[in-house]
Amino acid sequence: MRRTIIEPFKIKMVEPLHFHTRLEREGYLKEAGYNLFLLNSSQITFDFLTDSGTTAMSAEQWASMMTADESYAGSRSFGNFKAAVQDIMGFEYVIPTHQGRAAERIFFGKMVKEGNKIPSNNHFDTTRANIEFLKAEACDLVIEEGKNPRSDFPFKGNIDTNKLEAYCSANIGNIPFGMITITNNTGGGQPVSMENLKQVAAIYKKYKIPFIIDACRFAENAYFIKKREANQSNRSIKDIVKDIFNLADGCMMSAKKDAMVNIGGFIALKKDNWLDDLRNILILTEGFPTYGGLAARDLSAMAIGLYEVLDESYLDYRIAVCEYMAKNLNAMGIPTMLPAGGHAVYIDAKEFLPHIRAEQFPGQSMAAEMYLNDGIRSCEIGSAMFGKNATMELVRMAFPRRVYTQSHFDYILEGMEELVKRKNEMRGMKIVYEPPFLRHFTARFDYL
Ligand code: F0G
Repeated sequence: MRRTIIEPFKIKMVEPLHFHTRLEREGYLKEAGYNLFLLNSSQITFDFLTDSGTTAMSAEQWASMMTADESYAGSRSFGNFKAAVQDIMGFEYVIPTHQGRAAERIFFGKMVKEGNKIPSNNHFDTTRANIEFLKAEACDLVIEEGKNPRSDFPFKGNIDTNKLEAYCSANIGNIPFGMITITNNTGGGQPVSMENLKQVAAIYKKYKIPFIIDACRFAENAYFIKKREANQSNRSIKDIVKDIFNLADGCMMSAKKDAMVNIGGFIALKKDNWLDDLRNILILTEGFPTYGGLAARDLSAMAIGLYEVLDESYLDYRIAVCEYMAKNLNAMGIPTMLPAGGHAVYIDAKEFLPHIRAEQFPGQSMAAEMYLNDGIRSCEIGSAMFGKNATMELVRMAFPRRVYTQSHFDYILEGMEELVKRKNEMRGMKIVYEPPFLRHFTARFDYL
């Protein structure tokens, strides 16, 4: 094993990075009310706001877009996409949507009734919001280790099976389906073990509850299973993926993550009992069942991306980047959630900036300083986002797939050392404007 992380691709098309002076960035950030969501991308050098829809596509994906079949009905590109989902996930029935939350809206629209209860490890924000919109309960049952940023348990995305068993038995007849999110984004991009997936599937089966996976980072999860779980190391990612989905009745997927595309999503199911109703809602709100709100070229790119993500040399590089960033940040005294996730590193701003109290937004201050120092856009996940409900003060650096190289990451780490030296000068912040809900997107801040 070499020390250097190697990108397992060469680059055919490039975009310039935007560089600015600190003084220029100070002006931009002040103008944006110290809210990184309100910056223009041209004011940013390294954009780690999200790994969603920010993937660099391959030459093969781009080429397939030119030959895609844009027929309204019965498109060949849909056939290729459906065949890829059937082959990789083993689900017979495939419903394309324009992104993950559209899949959620359509599936929940059919399945969820007022007062229903839906368990998962952690529901992602849009999943929770779509369930609560239908006046049902989204319940998080992640294991205790998953809530502790210092725990280095290898599968912090696991569901607490005792709690799940109790929840299912207490709510018999009121759980239309049960979920699990792989990897657990809300809990830090942490994986779920094959063992836990099997136990969860068995509990749902015992209570006759259909099992639906929120699958958007399924390949990253399979890679962690291969690397960390007993008796999995000699298996191919494709075989592990097959086993995961074989346990479930279906999945919802935001293809903007592990299908390596900029837009897209789908619902995939083993049986056809809900199919007609789902397709009818699809036709009403997204489009005909062979395109579902997408262009056929998007379906083509997904069909190829779903295979590309299974490539182990890609996953080696992908996960190594997160581990490398976490390890080097920790070594210079910047604590992160442990172990590193599959798509992101979560800096523990509460621990790094003990002189800034939670109500003074240590995560927002950290994110602002990372921007001012090097033009990095990250995302506060703490008191600015969740108010008094925040349990941690985190700053997420989510890495777009195949976009940044090892030297970008080394350059960023060099800059972060400067932050460590100046950390005592970093100041708390206050909110000077906030909207009535989802305040983190448009709130404006200033220094205390
Ligand atoms: N489920 C999970 C686990 C997600 O992380 C996301 C999106 C969705 C569903 C919704 O998918 O965006 O295609 O509608 N996560 C992005 C993020 C936005 O930045 O973590 P979508």
